[in-house]
Amino acid sequence: MKRSICLIGFMGSGKTTIGQKLAEALGYRWVDMDQYIEAQEGCTIVEIFKQHGEAYFRRLEYKYLKELVASPPMIISTGGGAITTPENISILQEQYTFYLSYPFEVLYKRIAGDEKRPLATNYEEILQRYQSRQEFYKIASYKCIDCLDQRVEQVVDEIISILKKEDFSEMENSSLHDLKRN
Ligand code: S3P
Repeated sequence: MKRSICLIGFMGSGKTTIGQKLAEALGYRWVDMDQYIEAQEGCTIVEIFKQHGEAYFRRLEYKYLKELVASPPMIISTGGGAITTPENISILQEQYTFYLSYPFEVLYKRIAGDEKRPLATNYEEILQRYQSRQEFYKIASYKCIDCLDQRVEQVVDEIISILKKEDFSEMENSSLHDLKRN
């Protein structure tokens, strides 16, 4: 049964901003996975990578994603690499998962030099990660949203209109019917 609404996509694709707006529009709880992990672990993503490495971070990501989807439905903004763990792909396939897709160059401009993102290293490495992840974003998602040249509000509206076409009754207290947007 599909439960939560998950946003996936590469670093810089706006998962946090769009997740927040979507939650406001639908009246659901919103959780940003990176922020959640930092709060639960009491340290930053940068520190986790530095002290324990990427594999350890991926295990945490899996642990908390599993925990969150077992809770009442919510909006989850995942980290860009969540789809690199096969178990996460299985979880995401059971949710309403939207892939926020952008061309590489747009994302690169947004994330280059961001010190809060340990994997935003150099052009070639980021490009390689972007390319190798594309098929996994597609496999894990229910719908791919082409976000290029779209404002945040337009992306949010597109996701809502897709959800409206679905049988959303399984999401109790769904406020989709009450939405004034059409
Ligand atoms: C990562 C993306 C980050 C964060 C971590 C690893 C990745 O999240 O989870 O730095 O592997 O792409 P954002 O996509 O929110 O930047």
